[in-house]
Amino acid sequence: MISVGIMGGTFNPIHNGHLIIANEVLNQLNIDKIFFIPVGIPPHKNLDEVVSADDRFKMVELAVKKNNKFEALDIEIKRPGFTYTIDTLKTLNEIYKNYKFYFIIGFDTLKELHTWKQIEEIYKYCSFVVVNRNSDKKNIVDLIKHYNNLYGLQIEYVNIPNIEISSSSIRDKIKNNRSIKYYVPDAVEEYIIAKNLYRKNIEKEEIINYIKHNLDEKRYRHSINVSKMAIKLAQKYNVDKEKVEIAAILHDVAKNLNLEDMLRYIKEFGINLNEVDIKSPQILHSYIGAYIAREKFKVDDDVFNAIYYHTVGRKDMSMIEKIIFIADVIEEERNFEGVEEIRKQAFEDIDLAIIKSCDSTIKYLIEKGLLIHPNTIELRNSLLDMGE
Ligand SMILES: [Fe+2]
Ligand SMILES: [Fe+2]
Repeated sequence: MISVGIMGGTFNPIHNGHLIIANEVLNQLNIDKIFFIPVGIPPHKNLDEVVSADDRFKMVELAVKKNNKFEALDIEIKRPGFTYTIDTLKTLNEIYKNYKFYFIIGFDTLKELHTWKQIEEIYKYCSFVVVNRNSDKKNIVDLIKHYNNLYGLQIEYVNIPNIEISSSSIRDKIKNNRSIKYYVPDAVEEYIIAKNLYRKNIEKEEIINYIKHNLDEKRYRHSINVSKMAIKLAQKYNVDKEKVEIAAILHDVAKNLNLEDMLRYIKEFGINLNEVDIKSPQILHSYIGAYIAREKFKVDDDVFNAIYYHTVGRKDMSMIEKIIFIADVIEEERNFEGVEEIRKQAFEDIDLAIIKSCDSTIKYLIEKGLLIHPNTIELRNSLLDMGE
């Protein structure tokens, strides 16, 4: 008789934690194989975040292909509608005669086992293996005894190392442009990148609509102008046009808030202000705008920072930050003295254009007797250093 462990799940996406669990079950129970069976339509899940069954299955296939004791089965994703464990087990028993199946579950599922409608029916088709998920062994063993007395279930127990990897944390990393290397097999990572999975698609229309309703006519036109200029610069400097456009459209999203609302937001978002910030309310819209963009439109860190630093800058700005910073200064309707030159310069040497812009800002602040933000000085100095 061949013994097979069953790993079911959404696998959205499959990760190394799943593979470690499967391997531990295989080794500790001396099982012959593990079947990985992605569910078709996962119950009780936010379907927005679940990629197609096809993609999830392909990632599982890629993840297991180097291990001949692991196998990906598409029996659940092929079945239309919601799938029930009992149906899957019946199908497996029909296809694989003389196999003994071990259904692998976590402690959370074990605790819910008594709520499963056909638990005694299910038990005809498989045994259970519970893997320890960061819970103490004694509770699990007690619960296993309880089920044994209640239903006569024999449940195996497999201790696994505590692995803090979850599919949702991987999706979050991808959304925030963080690496998922070593969290998933290389082939899965490549697949996710190639198919651009789990990246949110920020709806541009929605954002434009939002600023239309939250900015006055002039400020709205300015934002669109900045986005036009920023896209041209993104093209020139070879950075993500979509991100630059989103950051540009949203950069002044908080510009029309009154002081009272601004102070409320500063408190709500927990924004730290230095002395200059506190005395220069015209700066605050950039910080608040970044948080509003993140909260309302889930923008990533690149876009967040471009908005956050668009007024005062900072040293070592990213190219996206530089583009938004300078596009704000040189958009087509800006007509201060010397704008033509900076506009031209921005496409030849963006750092020089930013230095010039800092110079004129600093001169202006001095003339008016206003405070100079330390970030602007640091930005200017860092660019001058680089030019040496
Ligand atoms: Fe601004
Ligand atoms: Fe602006």
